[in-house]
Amino acid sequence: MDNIYEKALETASFIKGIIKETPQIAVVLGSGLGPLADEIESSIEIDYKDVPNFPLTTVEGHAGKFVYGLLGNRRVIAMKGRFHHYEGYDVSQIVFPVRVFKMLGIDNLIVTNASGGINRNFKPGDLMIIKDHISFFAPSPLRGKNINEFGLRFPDMSKAYSPKLIEICKKAASDVGVNVKEGVYAFAQGPMYETPSEIKALGILGADAVGMSTVPEVIAARHANMNVLGISCITNMAAGILDQPLNHEEVMRTAKEAENNFTLLVKRVISAWEV
Ligand code: 6GU
Repeated sequence: MDNIYEKALETASFIKGIIKETPQIAVVLGSGLGPLADEIESSIEIDYKDVPNFPLTTVEGHAGKFVYGLLGNRRVIAMKGRFHHYEGYDVSQIVFPVRVFKMLGIDNLIVTNASGGINRNFKPGDLMIIKDHISFFAPSPLRGKNINEFGLRFPDMSKAYSPKLIEICKKAASDVGVNVKEGVYAFAQGPMYETPSEIKALGILGADAVGMSTVPEVIAARHANMNVLGISCITNMAAGILDQPLNHEEVMRTAKEAENNFTLLVKRVISAWEV
């Protein structure tokens, strides 16, 4: 992707022309977590297929649209459907929407996903606040000439997930009576799930959950100095933790079961967030 900065500007001005306002928070919705977008009031929808410079989504269970409106009394833009590495997009395409958010004037990002649990204290249906990530196995979205308009050549990742937002999220969880875990999310390219040996290795490295998304977006968001909160839905235990095969249907089913808690939590976080 060439001229990313100009393209992001162009795409942002297209979106701005439709929504007319500046959203305060952007939310990227993970597999099976799309129904949160239905809670957005006075909503305006924009299909990715109508958005200039946007790739198309290909995965079943991932709609491709923006939903803009009010949620928890804040102006929120949600992405229903994201771009994954395993679909064949290059990383600059995966993070393009985050750059567009930045050009829209948004400094706050919530990223969500479905993941496999590595930590044996987790169980399917748990929500995990992402406190950090591990991503040795993916190309960086910042590879190539630095785009100075977004950020530094060598951005710091020491507090990639805002400690303040983690606190807000924990308080929100206790306010609404939703139990949340906290942990480290490891990125895997997919689309195959990992082997038991890979999961054992990731666990030794310090990962609590594993999934196929989120990390590229977070890297681009932190490059652009956005505040990031990550919430993962543990939809299944990763390979070898239980003696059980893994499948996408289970992932979607558990995400659906966790949907109420997830929606409650995210709405509460958004209203508690002083933007
Ligand atoms: Cl076990 N692995 C990966 N990479 N992604 C997942 C998953 C596992 N479970 C849900 N998403």
